[in-house]
Amino acid sequence: MTTPDMEAFVRGMPKAELHVHVEGTLEPEMRLRLAERNGIELPYATAGELAASYEYQDLASFLALYFSGMDVLQTERDFYDLTYAYLQRMHGQNVVYTEMHFDPQAHTSRGIAFDTVIKGIRRAQEAAWAELEVRSQLILGILRDMSAESALETLEQSLPHKDWIVGVGLDSDEKGNPPVKFREVFDRSRAEGYRLTMHCDHLQENSVQHIRQCLDVIGVDRIDHGYHVLDDDDLIEDMRCRQVCLTFCTTSNPSNPAPRRAAELKRALELGLNVTVNTDDPAYMRSYYMNEVLQNTQQAVGLTREQVAELARNAFRSAWIGEEEREAFVGAVDGYVGGS
Ligand code: HPA
Ligand code: ZN
Repeated sequence: MTTPDMEAFVRGMPKAELHVHVEGTLEPEMRLRLAERNGIELPYATAGELAASYEYQDLASFLALYFSGMDVLQTERDFYDLTYAYLQRMHGQNVVYTEMHFDPQAHTSRGIAFDTVIKGIRRAQEAAWAELEVRSQLILGILRDMSAESALETLEQSLPHKDWIVGVGLDSDEKGNPPVKFREVFDRSRAEGYRLTMHCDHLQENSVQHIRQCLDVIGVDRIDHGYHVLDDDDLIEDMRCRQVCLTFCTTSNPSNPAPRRAAELKRALELGLNVTVNTDDPAYMRSYYMNEVLQNTQQAVGLTREQVAELARNAFRSAWIGEEEREAFVGAVDGYVGGS
C-alpha cells in the first residue's frame, strides 16, 4: 500500500523526466479546444468521450491514436499551448527538468513547417523557464516507419535550430524497422553534436537483437523502454557495466499491465541497472503524469524510499546537461531525502 507519507514523499521530491513525447501530452480538453480554434470537426463532443475512445491493444493501435490526435496541431500558437500546458503541469508536480521528444515528420507530412513546430515549442520552453523555473530540452524524434532518406531530410531541417535540440531519438513502429536502418542518420547526428537515444519497445520482434544494435552498432547514449534487456544475461551484464540509461515507462497498458512493468523496474534496480521512470504519452495513458506513475509503481512492488530516490537520482545523472547543473539537481534530491 502507498501510505499517505510515501505519496507526499514522491510529490515533494525534485524529479526529472527523460522520456515523454510532447504530442503525447495533448489532453482531450485541449484537443477539443484546438479543433474548435482551427475549424476541425472531431467525431467526439466531450473530453470524456474522447478519453473513452483511447483504447488500444498494442503499439500499432496506440500509434494510430497518437498520430490522429495531432491533426489539431496547426499553428505555432498550438505548439506553444501544448508545450506550455505540459511544462506547467510538471511545475505542479516538482518535475524540475524534462527532456521532451517531438516528432517533426508527423507534422511536416501534414504540410506544417518544421519552423512552425519548433518555434512554438521553444517559446513555451523559454516562458516556462522564465515564469516557472522548469528547465527543459528537446529531442528530435525520427519516425522509424518512414524512410532513412526522410530521416536525413529531417535532420537537415533541424540544423539551423541546433542550439535548441539536445539529442536525436527513434520512435514509432519498430516492427520491420531495426536500429541499423538509421545508422547513417545517427552517425551524422552524433557528428553534429547531438546525443543519441532509440526506442526499443515492449513485445516487438527481435528485441534483444535491436538492443544489441543500439549498443554495439549505433552507440546510443540511452535506450527508451528497453525492458527486454532483462531477457538476456549478457545484456544485463553489459548494461550494468556501461550504465546506459533505460527509460522505463511503467504506466499500465493492455499488452503490459502495470504490475508486470513495476516488477521489471524493481528487478532492473536490484540488478544495478541505470533505470528511470517516465510517462511516455500521458494524455493517452489515463493522464498519469510523473507523480501518479511513480506512486503507482512504488505501490505495486513496494519500492523503498531509497529506491524511489535512486530513480530520481538516476534521471538527473543521465540527463543531457552540464556537470554543475547535474550536481545541483542530485544535491537537491539528497537534501530532500536527508531532510524528510
Ligand atoms: N513507442 C514508439 N513510438 C512512440 C511511443 C512509444 O512508446 N510514444 C510515442 N511514439
Ligand atoms: Zn516513447
